[in-house]
Amino acid sequence: MNLDDRDQQHPRRKSQFIKRMETTVSKPRAYVILLILVFILGYLSHSHPLLSQTASDVYEHNSFPNECAAPVPASDVRRTIISRVFNNTSPWESFPPTHARPLLWQEWNKGWGSQMPVFEHLIEQVRPRTIIEVGTFLGASATHMVGLTRKLGLDTQIVCIDDFRGWPGYYDEEKSLKMVNGDSLLLYQFMQNVVRANATESIIMLPFSAGTALGGLCDWGVYGDLVEVDAAHDFHSAWVDINNAFKVLKPGGVLFGHDYAWVGVRTAVHIFARVHGFQIRIDGEHWILY
Ligand SMILES: C[S@@+](CC[C@H](N)C(=O)[O-])C[C@H]1O[C@@H](n2cnc3c(N)ncnc32)[C@H](O)[C@@H]1O
Repeated sequence: MNLDDRDQQHPRRKSQFIKRMETTVSKPRAYVILLILVFILGYLSHSHPLLSQTASDVYEHNSFPNECAAPVPASDVRRTIISRVFNNTSPWESFPPTHARPLLWQEWNKGWGSQMPVFEHLIEQVRPRTIIEVGTFLGASATHMVGLTRKLGLDTQIVCIDDFRGWPGYYDEEKSLKMVNGDSLLLYQFMQNVVRANATESIIMLPFSAGTALGGLCDWGVYGDLVEVDAAHDFHSAWVDINNAFKVLKPGGVLFGHDYAWVGVRTAVHIFARVHGFQIRIDGEHWILY
């Protein structure tokens, strides 16, 4: 007996089956389920595009678009920052605040390689109107740069970026620090050092994280002729800082930084130089891109 014969023997069974199929297929719910199944199968059979590791994907996710605002003139840099960050009032106007006054050192200014010849070399070469320093600490390199620009008769504004918080465990390392309610007072000690160096008109700070501060400068059109990167030295921090710092480098300006000997910094500098076609010059402990 073939199949047709069997169906002819059970005509009722055949028509019931066809009917059931027809009603099932006509239900919208069936289409939705079918669609979901097709989607899941498609998803499983292809790797997700966000997770694919092609060079172009990696490059795309690591790129830092460099569309910043039109540049403000160098003579407006200080005013722009005081207006955007300090409500149009110089932060030195009522400095120091009462609670910090008895806790500050007259001068307690230290750094790492803060007075190395690279600063003199680059300031003589570039004659900057605006310097942006990413990682300032107590202001040792910033106040040193003020002295150098004055010696050359330059009218230079130095924009100091630092969160002025220190780092985890720093309080144990540095007994000179006084702390009030978890605040290490680094910002006030930095400001005190700037007062002491008679440099309050030459220095303005952005007391925020490096990424936030550099983003602000980019949005306001504040660019540096010299941009120095000397904040955290692990690869990821250095990589992000260098990329963000590059966005606010004036055309023809120089990007440089400290601690080339640190593997994280060195790796970030080399990748950045390769991606953007820069050469790396070493001056003491510093790297310079040109
Ligand atoms: C090596 S010190 C800078 C020294 C300074 N350039 C000098 O020579 O005197 C590094 C500074 O970077 C700051 N820093 C590190 N990571 C930062 C971040 N993500 N945002 C803001 N500041 C940061 C630290 O607070 C510290 O004060």
